[in-house]
Amino acid sequence: MIRHATPDDIDSLLVLEARCFSYDRLTRRSFRHLLLRGHAVTFVATDEQAIQGYALLLFRDASSIGRLYSLAVDPRHHRRGIARRLMRTLEREVRRRGRHWLAAETRPRNRAMRRFCNELGFDEVGRKRRFYEDGVDAILLRKRLVPGGSSKQPRP
Ligand SMILES: CC(C)(COP(=O)(O)OP(=O)(O)OC[C@H]1O[C@@H](n2cnc3c(N)ncnc32)[C@H](O)[C@@H]1OP(=O)(O)O)[C@@H](O)C(=O)NCCC(=O)NCCS
Repeated sequence: MIRHATPDDIDSLLVLEARCFSYDRLTRRSFRHLLLRGHAVTFVATDEQAIQGYALLLFRDASSIGRLYSLAVDPRHHRRGIARRLMRTLEREVRRRGRHWLAAETRPRNRAMRRFCNELGFDEVGRKRRFYEDGVDAILLRKRLVPGGSSKQPRP
């Protein structure tokens, strides 16, 4: 099942962060902030027992882009289509808010994420220098969600 995250999910989200990331982990404080603010939307994928994964979207006013800020699936549940289902929900949310593009970033060495985004129809459109806290560049990804909408690629 996929549903909106609530502040009651923060403990589980922190466990996921620790399992999935070695750098740039979101903290309790940042989750609290993001879950309570209107410019962010977080979805969780759950089974009867636990949260298996989450995806967090950010919106800026007057931008045609929704930005995938974080996506993680518990390693015990990889390759079962959970991230794909989360992304379908995110894409619906971006369209519902009248945005035309979904943006994301990834580390160059994150083969799983690059392949995943490629499968979902994202293009790699550039790099952002020293984007991550350990100084690694980010690859910028974009997916156009609205055919016939604004065709001009927004600046990365
Ligand atoms: C990237 C990530 C979210 C994918 O989650 P997932 O639920 O395992 O992905 P899915 O099962 O929905 O995979 C969908 C498709 O993506 C591609 N893919 C996913 N993981 C892959 C991997 N390890 N290697 C190659 N391709 C992969 C495949 O094409 C896959 O389809 P298939 O299984 O039918 O071949 C997961 O590996 C993860 O949480 N990684 C750690 C956190 C992270 O790096 N997040 C992204 C940066 S914010």
